[in-house]
Amino acid sequence: MTVDEHTLVLGVETSCDETAAALVLGGDDVISSVVSSQIDLHAEFGGVVPEVASRAHLESLNPVVARAIVEGGIDPSRIDAVACTIGPGLIGALLVGVSAAKALALAWDVPFVGVNHLEAHLYAAFLEDTNLQFPLVVLLVSGGHTMLVEMRDHGDYRLLGRTIDDAAGEAFDKVARFLDLGYPGGPAIDRASDAGDPDAIRFPRAMMDDGLDFSFSGLKTSVLNYVRREPDVASVDVAASLQQAVIDVLVHKARRAAHEVGATGIVLGGGVAANRLLRAEIAAACAADGIGAFLPSREMCTDNAAMIAAAGWHRLRAVGPSPLDIGAFPTMPLLDQALIR
Ligand code: KG4
Ligand code: ZN
Repeated sequence: MTVDEHTLVLGVETSCDETAAALVLGGDDVISSVVSSQIDLHAEFGGVVPEVASRAHLESLNPVVARAIVEGGIDPSRIDAVACTIGPGLIGALLVGVSAAKALALAWDVPFVGVNHLEAHLYAAFLEDTNLQFPLVVLLVSGGHTMLVEMRDHGDYRLLGRTIDDAAGEAFDKVARFLDLGYPGGPAIDRASDAGDPDAIRFPRAMMDDGLDFSFSGLKTSVLNYVRREPDVASVDVAASLQQAVIDVLVHKARRAAHEVGATGIVLGGGVAANRLLRAEIAAACAADGIGAFLPSREMCTDNAAMIAAAGWHRLRAVGPSPLDIGAFPTMPLLDQALIR
């Protein structure tokens, strides 16, 4: 099949706690994007409960897909392919989306494309800025991942660094839970930090000048130990000091990575990319270094299906459809492209 600017892809995303569907034309024109969040369902547990997530996807997916089609104002017969996240993520949650997306592809007699969720996060910036020039450095920071990726071309990535333990979002989520700041933790830390002093407590910046890998588990432990030792400390000061420590490391390493590979700019992706201080500091660092800063909107940073449809369009064009007997891969790495060939 010819894949071009007229190719309309339906994207489906169910890897974690967002049920999403979107229509994207030509790989970058978002016709509709619907996200149904399960945040309220998981809030009482303080984290995503896999079985609750799978059941909620099962209930929401058909209405979410229907809404994406209705809001897009198109007839389903116009859809040229169905793209869906096949990993990484929660296995039960992934299987709901993968099964539904395959069924739709089969019923409509169009190709099915399996998409790597991490690769899709890289594509969020392309949906809002179609003039990005390679090579780019992508700082992908979410609840499950923290990585620096050199993007040399579409589908051509090199992993520059990654966390050796906790993800940055995980550090925010765990500390916020400990401090009773609210759920999910990242946005709670972001808000609480407004009223706090980022210099109140000097938390460690691990591996600052030691390669491009990250480590956040020692920081989390250091915060918990500090609060146990000083129970009267203001939580807003802890939040602001933690946020500053995480962002100092992220910005320092992203900047060095961009310098090392001669990138034209730094692209942010993943849920933590919604963080206001991170956005401001990346923008300032890139301006100082004379390179571009590409900061997708909040809606595109967090999990959505438009990025799945965009990555699916590129995969369909470069590699072609995925077989219908392909499974779901809970721990799928970014660079394991062989899985979906
Ligand atoms: O990409 P995402 O929606 O889901 C995953 O694939 O993990 O990212 C969710 C993560 C959570 O850890 C959440 O706390 C964090 O992104 N997050 C934030 C902010 N908004 C979401 N972290 C810091 N500041 C924010 N404003
Ligand atoms: Zn994600």
